[in-house]
Amino acid sequence: MNILYICNDDSKPWQKAVHRHIPEAEFLVWGEDVVEAESVDYVLAWNPPPGVLATFTKAKAIFVLGAGVDALLRDPTLPTHMPIVRLVDPRLSSGMTEYIVHWVLHFHRSMHVYARQQTARQWVQYENTNPAKRRIGFLGLGELGQDAAHAVLMLGFENIAGWTRTPKDLPGIESFVGAQGLDGFLARTDILVCLLPHTKDTEGLLNAVTLAKLPQGAFVINAGRGSLVVEADMIEALNSGHIEAAAFDVFTPEPLPQDHPYWTLGNVFITPHIASLTTADSATQVVAKGIQAIIDGDLPDNVVDLTNGY
Ligand code: NDP
Ligand code: OXD
Repeated sequence: MNILYICNDDSKPWQKAVHRHIPEAEFLVWGEDVVEAESVDYVLAWNPPPGVLATFTKAKAIFVLGAGVDALLRDPTLPTHMPIVRLVDPRLSSGMTEYIVHWVLHFHRSMHVYARQQTARQWVQYENTNPAKRRIGFLGLGELGQDAAHAVLMLGFENIAGWTRTPKDLPGIESFVGAQGLDGFLARTDILVCLLPHTKDTEGLLNAVTLAKLPQGAFVINAGRGSLVVEADMIEALNSGHIEAAAFDVFTPEPLPQDHPYWTLGNVFITPHIASLTTADSATQVVAKGIQAIIDGDLPDNVVDLTNGY
């Protein structure tokens, strides 16, 4: 069995992981090894150049090495006759949950205010808000959103809601659905956590109109995609204080350009798309299960729905 790795990241950890978890496989690296296109059985890919995937006509599946598939779906030549499988990996979920819990607690406990005070050598104490009174809202309650929401719930934040395309019945999490549920969801959300994929329906979702529906002084955490945000509108909301502070991990484009206004806004916290990173060992175990499902004549889990775009 031939597995082809197409990704700019170091191939060594993947080679090691494939040898460990799929020992029968031959591991090939695109751009390094001589690859006969028709001999490739499975592709492991992250952001491959457009047009490349179409050449592996005999492949049985494409395993995406991340959760978001927006970059891949932009390729007009993307083969659709084989399953495209996105990454659902407990390590990816726990990494994202750590990031979300960090920023929820950071804003909930006013660490952004104390950081400012430190630079001014100020000693001012504020009352702590009861977590039960802090309303957390998750835009997107998929694999990552649900894991993070449950962790936040366990910390005593009892007032949690999620906004999704389809209804959810999750203990302790209020469900808001679709266009008709969005306004009510935003109006009850003090800390907004964005874990939506980029699709034609989610692009620009956070704009002047929707941001205005959040309560005065709300916080925004975006680890979904930069394209969910209309940046000029977000900057205005941050400058006016309507959004008190924000943590952004994702941007359009990435890396965030040197002259981007976000860098100099005192109430914006920037990380370079590290909210959760794929780890070769755990991801390869997931891929191994997917390959086994195909060998057994089944469809692997987490096949991308090309109609919905995620
Ligand atoms: P899932 O596909 O499991 O979940 C997506 C969620 O978004 C679902 O709850 C889905 O609703 C909801 N959704 C999608 N479209 C809409 C819409 N039009 N209206 C309302 N809700 C919608 O994805 P994951 O949780 O695994 O990942 C989410 C995203 O996180 C990825 O697509 C990627 O962009 C980003 N990501 C970022 C990382 C980082 O390091 N910053 C790392 C990994 C992922 P429903 O449940 O009804 O289908
Ligand atoms: C992503 C990822 O989709 O890193 O951003 O998995």
